[in-house]
This record gives sequence, C-alpha cells and structure tokens, in this order.
Amino acid sequence: MTTPFPKTPTFMTIDEPFRFEGSVFDLEVEGRIPDSLDGTFYRVGPDQAFPPMMGDANPFNGDGFMTAFRIQGGHCDMQTRYVMTHRLKAERAARRGLFGHYRNPFTDDPIVKGVQRTVSNTNVVPHAGQILAMKEDGPPYSIDPVTLETRQLWDWNGQMTATSFTAHPKIDPATGEFFGYAYAAKGEATDDIAIYSFDKHGKKTWEVWFKSPYPGMIHECAISEGYIILPLIPHVMDIERLKKGGIAFQWDGSLDQIYIVCPRGGEAKDVRFFRAPNAFPGHVINAFDEGGKLYLDLPVALDNVFWFFPDQHGKVPAPGSFGTEVTRWCFDMKDRNSKPVPVVLSRMAAEFPHCDDRYVGRPYRYGFMQATDPTKPYNAEKAGPVMGFFFNTLLTMDMQTGKADEWFAGDTTTTQEPVFAPKSATSPEGEGYVIGVVNRRAEHRSDLVILDAMRMSAGPVATIKLPVRLKYGIHGNWVPTVPMY
Ligand SMILES: [Fe+2]
Repeated sequence: MTTPFPKTPTFMTIDEPFRFEGSVFDLEVEGRIPDSLDGTFYRVGPDQAFPPMMGDANPFNGDGFMTAFRIQGGHCDMQTRYVMTHRLKAERAARRGLFGHYRNPFTDDPIVKGVQRTVSNTNVVPHAGQILAMKEDGPPYSIDPVTLETRQLWDWNGQMTATSFTAHPKIDPATGEFFGYAYAAKGEATDDIAIYSFDKHGKKTWEVWFKSPYPGMIHECAISEGYIILPLIPHVMDIERLKKGGIAFQWDGSLDQIYIVCPRGGEAKDVRFFRAPNAFPGHVINAFDEGGKLYLDLPVALDNVFWFFPDQHGKVPAPGSFGTEVTRWCFDMKDRNSKPVPVVLSRMAAEFPHCDDRYVGRPYRYGFMQATDPTKPYNAEKAGPVMGFFFNTLLTMDMQTGKADEWFAGDTTTTQEPVFAPKSATSPEGEGYVIGVVNRRAEHRSDLVILDAMRMSAGPVATIKLPVRLKYGIHGNWVPTVPMY
C-alpha cells in the first residue's frame, strides 16, 4: 500500500481501518460466562482493505470483515477474517483500490469491468451447513463455519438467478426453510423483485418475480407463517444518475413507504402493496399472523437516515437527529381494500433488533436491540467525537407493552448490534442472554458483553476483554453448536 487512508469520518476514531486477520485463544473474562452458552457469535462489517479509489467512500463500501466468537464451557475464543471476494482478490493483486463509488460500476477502474462488485459486509447467516456472508447488491459468499475461509460465490448451485440477494433472509424455525429476495434483481436500478425460498439443505422450494412500484431500496424482510413482507424504502436508484457517476440512492420525500406482502408460495398476482406515508422503515423485529390479520413490528424513522444519500436538493439528516417509532403495523389480509394501520409501541430511538430466533414468524413477546438514549451523558473530551451511527444502550423490549429493560453502556462507550442466545433449546422465550460488542472509545479498544436478557439493567454477567478495537460492524447472528432445526 503506497497511499494512506483519508482522514474522513468513514476512517476515523473507532472506524480507523483495522484489517488484521488473526485469532485470540481464551480471551480474558471479567465475571462469568454462563456454562449453558455453547455456540458461535458471527458478525461482519465493513473494513476497507485499500484506500478508496475516489478519495473517500461511504461506510457501506468497505470490504466484508468477519469476526467469530466461539463460546463453550465458560471460555471464549475469537477469530477475524476477510470475506475473500472477487473484488478483494482483484484489489490485492493490484495492491490498490479498483472500485469506485458505492454501487456505481460506472466509476470503477476499467480493468475490473465485469468483476463481481459485492463486498459482502452486511450480515453472516447460517444455512445448509455453511455461513453466508451477505450484502444486498450481489449473491452471498459461502464461508466455512469453522475456519471462516471463503469457499465460493453462492447462487445455490445455479438455482438463484437474480443479480443480487438480500442480506436479511429469514429462517422458519419450524422447518429451517430459508426465505430471501432480490431487488434490482436484473441489475442495478432495475425495478425487478424476486422472492425465493430454499429448504434447510439448500434446495429451492419457491421463486416468484414481479415489478416494484418504484426502483427503491428494500433492505429487510419479515416472514409470518403465511406471508413474506418486503418494506420498500423511498431511497431510489436511477441508472442515468449512475452513468453520470452519481450516488446510488437518492431520498425522495414525496414517495410512500410501501409494504409489499406476498403469501408464502404465492404467485405474482397474489402480491399486495400496502402504502403508508413517506418514512424510512428500518430493521424488522418480527411478524406474525392472527385472526386473518398480519402484524409486522419494526422501528420506523420519520425522515431519511443515511447522511451519505441526500435528497434531490442535497438535504441530509442533521447530525444527532436520528429517531424512530417502534411500530406495529396491522395488515388486514381479508379485506382487499384495507389500508395498513400503525400502532406506535415505543418512541425510543431503537434499532438493530433481533427476536428470539425460535419465534420468528410467530406471536412473540420480546425484542432485543440497541438504542440512542439522549438523556444519558457522553464524555466527548475522553471518548472523542462521534461520527456516523451512535448507540449507547442495549435493551430488551416487551413488545406487548413497549416497555424497555435497558443497560446504559457508559459515557465513553458506544454499543453495536446485540444478538440473543437462549439458555437452552427448550427455555421459555426470552430466557437467555443478550451478547454484543461495545466500543471503549477512550481506550481505543472493544469488549464483548453478555447480559441476562431478563435483567438487562443489572449490567453484564460477563465482560470479555478484547485486546483490539473492532470497527462498527453491521449485523451478526448467534449460531448454537447444537442446531436449532
Ligand atoms: Fe441491515
């Protein structure tokens, strides 16, 4: 590497490039790791391997960098490794950045024309004996669950023909069936959507194609026992803007958010589009069917969230303006003309949720997430300025009441997405642990914390001390050693 990384917010404070692939055996623990915890917490996030070709990059453009925390018998080992994408291989061969702006192939160095661009930095999900490293602009990569070695680009042995695939699939806990979708499914800025399901061995069980109301972003999905729901975000792609070297997505405050609902196994004619006023639907907590109605829980932000994707006038969200309404949408599936009805469960600025994976698609009670609590102090003098996403609290939310049991991480600490691990395969819902990386910003270091999910305010039962700093990751999952299905 002959040029340094730029001193821009994407590459500063805890988000300085890390890039170190290695392992630590038997990490130091304060407190006690519960004996019943037996599994691996996989996470992934962006860690740009080379300085960006365009001088700067948005945070989503970094190469996928995985962490695995293996927890067993009260001990924890850690490993880090890049997803060895076609893109990273090409850049390593050239020893420089070759790819231009986020999701804009027209800005690439011509020598990588046609090379798969995805960085697989958004989620790591178990499926069919492998871990899939995923990002919504390309197919997943298959990862060895033990060594984290990248095996190959994964298109389900040719069964998946869309040009992209979501980073947020959902797995039916009763069968292990894996549901996902593609938007821009015939290439960047196209308005094609494809939905797929595969059985737990990876055999395709369903595929349906249809047109999107507008070529917008669909970051998440939810499943119930009867339906799949795709929330369409008013962030719109435009091929002409891409050809001019522009940004991939532009916020459009005049467009509805649209909840696209399809019966599981359904055809294109069965798809319904539930329109709601302009807003930014966030990450899914869970969904379920009850009495002919379909319910979907997720935080909804009332304005654009991404400061690097402005609207047509260049307007971006103000720093520190992030807020959400944790919302329960009700869709009346018996009435063809029904409108979606929202109920706000909580006004906490909460995001990056998980539910107890054993209840995906079923009536449930608890959500586990992080939040920005503006009433809590932040010591910028010691911890440095906050750039980008800022969360300071981990919590369990009772979805029946909207009440949260929360743990404030401290005035020099920020949190990352937590996952939930049940105490055992047969424990009641919510009985288990919330596990997440926290950033000790004053020490330029990170820890892994484990909290009792039903006693969050009591603080961590174990703090696993990491000798390194882990950049802000995006998503991860707890994978028990004994499979759930
Ligand atoms: Fe996400």
